[in-house]
Amino acid sequence: MKALVLAGGSGTRLRPITHTSAKQLVPVANKPVLFYGLEAIAAAGVREIGIVVGGTHAEIEAAVGDGSRFGVEVTYLRQEAPLGLAHAVLIARDFLGEDDFVMYLGDNFIVGGINEITGRFTQDRPAAQIMLTQVADPRQFGVAELDGDGRVVGLEEKPREPKSDLALVGVYLFTPAIHQAVAELKPSWRGELEITDAIQWLIDDGRRVESSVISGYWKDTGNVEDMLEVNRLVLESVEPRVAGSVDDASELIGRVVVEAGAVVERSRILGPAIIGPGARVLDSYVGPFTSIAADCVVDGSEIEYSIVLPRSSISGVHRIEASLIGHDVEVTPAPDKPKAHRLVLGDHSKVQIST
Ligand code: DAU
Repeated sequence: MKALVLAGGSGTRLRPITHTSAKQLVPVANKPVLFYGLEAIAAAGVREIGIVVGGTHAEIEAAVGDGSRFGVEVTYLRQEAPLGLAHAVLIARDFLGEDDFVMYLGDNFIVGGINEITGRFTQDRPAAQIMLTQVADPRQFGVAELDGDGRVVGLEEKPREPKSDLALVGVYLFTPAIHQAVAELKPSWRGELEITDAIQWLIDDGRRVESSVISGYWKDTGNVEDMLEVNRLVLESVEPRVAGSVDDASELIGRVVVEAGAVVERSRILGPAIIGPGARVLDSYVGPFTSIAADCVVDGSEIEYSIVLPRSSISGVHRIEASLIGHDVEVTPAPDKPKAHRLVLGDHSKVQIST
């Protein structure tokens, strides 16, 4: 079995972070979300992974390399534009050959790995196997309709009037039968070749499509709220570890990781939290569910339930909550007079100011 990991796309809901970075590389507990997927695939025993990349290919390739650090062999597949999940399968045709494969959306986060579902698929070999989960607002997802026996009878992509609350999770298993379906597709109303339409084609053609409803934790990390939630969940199970230096005037409470080369002085860190390598936390409070990436500075500030990307500095700011801060960002207080907010914000930034 091979794997096809989708790491192209445009990531509009994570702007402005995704103006300069790939959404699949936004870190969760200081590790790119994409790496959790690659680890899950490797753990399922898959060795050959094709990664579909688009405009952010250089960054993804620099981060993942040849795959050896995950114990896999990576082939990069360039997609000239994000023309849909089924389009990604189309351009991967030569790489996939006549093998079965697992398709994994690079911005999806699944707790519990994929060993069970790949094991079941390998035994049964239906034309396609999908995972479903109940969601509060199915209109943002692909939605499945099941019959009384739990068999999939219909799939719709982002329906205005969903027929159920069962969303497609971003992990799919296919035999080569999917290639025939993909070859027959026409673009949807949103101009994409939809994988949901390809699976529907298989159903209409009388092929076997199996589904399982998962109750475990799953998130599509396409927006800031979900990113922060996944970060919270992962931090809840980190093993506390102090490899950097923490002075006597500081206090670490609960699950706190201080990476090598990080410095914590006169500060209080209430876990779960992670302070990345080379970061400096001085005269500050870092609250629960916060990831501070490598080489950041948090000085005379308070921050909680947030993700900060590498090399950013936060000085003299009380207090930051529920925030996603990009790399090389500077956050400082404005001078006392005149009392005003001074902002240099990238395109599509979102700022909430407490007045
Ligand atoms: O997260 C689950 C949902 O993922 C499913 O319920 C939907 O049925 C499925 O269509 C998909 O919806 P999204 O709107 O969330 O897909 P998104 O555009 O975010 O793309 C998912 C991943 O695939 C993301 O890592 C970007 C990548 N991608 C996307 C497209 C459209 C590509 O590599 N190439 C593409 O052409």
